Amino acid sequence: MAKLTDISWEDFSTLYLESKKPYLERQDGSLMPYHTLFAQQFDRNILERLCSLANRIRFINKSKEGALYLKNVLAHKRAMLYFSQPSSRTFLSHLAACQLLGITTGSVRDAATSSEFKGESHEDSIRTFSSYFDMIIMRSPERGLAEKMAWELSNSERPIPILNAGSGKDQHPTQALLDIYTLIRSFENKGGLDGRTVVFCGDLLRGRTVRSLSYLLTDFNDIKQIFVAPKELQVPDDVIEILKKKNIRFEIGDDLREATKIADAVYMTRIQDEWDESKGESAKIDTSRFKFRAEELALLGKESIIMHPLPRRDEIDTCCDHDPRAMYWRQMRNGMWIRAALIASSFGFERTIMDCGY
Ligand code: NCD
Repeated sequence: MAKLTDISWEDFSTLYLESKKPYLERQDGSLMPYHTLFAQQFDRNILERLCSLANRIRFINKSKEGALYLKNVLAHKRAMLYFSQPSSRTFLSHLAACQLLGITTGSVRDAATSSEFKGESHEDSIRTFSSYFDMIIMRSPERGLAEKMAWELSNSERPIPILNAGSGKDQHPTQALLDIYTLIRSFENKGGLDGRTVVFCGDLLRGRTVRSLSYLLTDFNDIKQIFVAPKELQVPDDVIEILKKKNIRFEIGDDLREATKIADAVYMTRIQDEWDESKGESAKIDTSRFKFRAEELALLGKESIIMHPLPRRDEIDTCCDHDPRAMYWRQMRNGMWIRAALIASSFGFERTIMDCGY
């Protein structure tokens, strides 16, 4: 079994993401992630197990007895939510997921209130958190930081799991999990997710949710991915390379209306202008054709869905909000269930919950 203690940071950091997967698994043979760092750690088997566990937790939580049972499952654990980038949903849904399982939480939401402000290194801060907590859920503007921290902790006297809640422009694996969970649920009584067409629209260059979800979709059969964006914000080469390598059908275009007509799911994203290199750079790009409005809604198939990781600006008109195909509100709630499933399995409690009497 591959262990993070058996490999140097230099060797680990240069491996392909797929090859890093076994190092991040629990050591109990369950194949479930111990650290969750990027989408490449998940395969279809793991995704389906997590979705079943999320459904199970959702069901158990419906009765008071069930909810109290769940609140006891991880009542002996504490989790630290360490968010040094803005967040509403990701923070709150992880918090709610911890609460469902009885986990006590602590949080830092602004690096200016932590000792990093006094010059403490990330390594020392994380080591500090691990002295008081049993898991760290972290969001950071720095690409690869969660990975480095996972390696550091696994090689410390107090190894605890790290969960990446968004790393720079790079990855957002738990968002991709809730997106997949939403897609699976949306199509479960309609022939399943295989063979579907998913359209990504908006800022595909800097949207980390797009990179993570695009990868997870490759774990399903014959899904076509269409990337619709202004040319300045088109999907980056590394995403396309993976699709080519895995022989996935894809198209790159700029016509949202045409794409909407053939889409099973349209995944809208906001312009990520916080990453602009010079002030106002995004505002110069013409994004007017990359918005989902009444005209696009009229072209969308009856059983197709609209998704968005949120927050939105004006890329989905509020006139779509009450349409039964608007799935972005449900996506949020799905995030709580799938994150509870992920947290429970990183602590090794998948079977306990699946097999409980509720
Ligand atoms: C996304 C993010 O932070 O990457 N939001 C989220 O986590 N739900 C998308 C975004 O900020 O546009």
